[in-house]
Amino acid sequence: MKIIKSTSVLIENLDQLENISLIPTMGNLHEGHLSLIKEAKKLSENIVFTIFINPIQFNSKHDLENYPRTLQQDINLLKEIGVTILFIPSVNDIFPVKPNLSYKMPIISNELCGKTRIDHFKGVITVIDRLFKLIQPSYAIFGKKDYQQLYLIKRFVFDSKLPIKIIEAPTIRNIDKLALSSRNNLLKTKDINLAVELYKKLNICAESVLNGVKIHDAELIAKKELVKEGWEIDYLEVRSQENLKKPSYNDSKLVVLGAGFLAKVRLIDNIEFCIPTTI
Ligand code: PAF
Repeated sequence: MKIIKSTSVLIENLDQLENISLIPTMGNLHEGHLSLIKEAKKLSENIVFTIFINPIQFNSKHDLENYPRTLQQDINLLKEIGVTILFIPSVNDIFPVKPNLSYKMPIISNELCGKTRIDHFKGVITVIDRLFKLIQPSYAIFGKKDYQQLYLIKRFVFDSKLPIKIIEAPTIRNIDKLALSSRNNLLKTKDINLAVELYKKLNICAESVLNGVKIHDAELIAKKELVKEGWEIDYLEVRSQENLKKPSYNDSKLVVLGAGFLAKVRLIDNIEFCIPTTI
């Protein structure tokens, strides 16, 4: 594994590689990230893995400063599992000048997570645009836990007509079904058991809809249950898998997405489900 820290050295090394699979991350690696490498290995032997804590996708300085950083541990893990290049750029390397995204973000980027995290997705797409231009991968792999992010990256690739195939990797969960996330490391031990309640309440919502409860009522039931468990809810909503809009009468492929805070730590999760008939 080559560890590369500057864009100029990266460009020299990319010259020798074809058919690249790119895995962009912000580090603090866990099984979820390692599962992305497994997906990448099915597609190509040339894997470029990036660790870059992107400052322009954070909404608060506090959140950026507190993002878990475990670089040496991450490097050791990646050496063991084996990727071709580990790219760890500095902020100046990625954004030598103030970034200016020409792509117009879809309206849906201001809903769900985007409603409270203003410009978060613009920050994500800006860094992804930069990494795609720099690395020109054939494939890029992202986890489904960040469902809205994944949707917006797919839209960006489609709208911009980029020759990159976006690969969706399933959410990896621990034995209790808690979705793995770097932010779980910020939870106090007493809150870790409560974290899985988000997944459980999303399930209750999906099952209620499947049992014929109206979507709005199912969302309310699940939200009330989550609040009882000590969660502060950002949103919990059923949307269409296809476009993330509120479901219309003929949408049968749905996803329930939720975000909330446990002792000031923001966690997200989602569950896809299908209803057999129209709503
Ligand atoms: O999901 C993440 O870790 C980040 O949002 C990403 C895609 C690496 C962009 O900074």
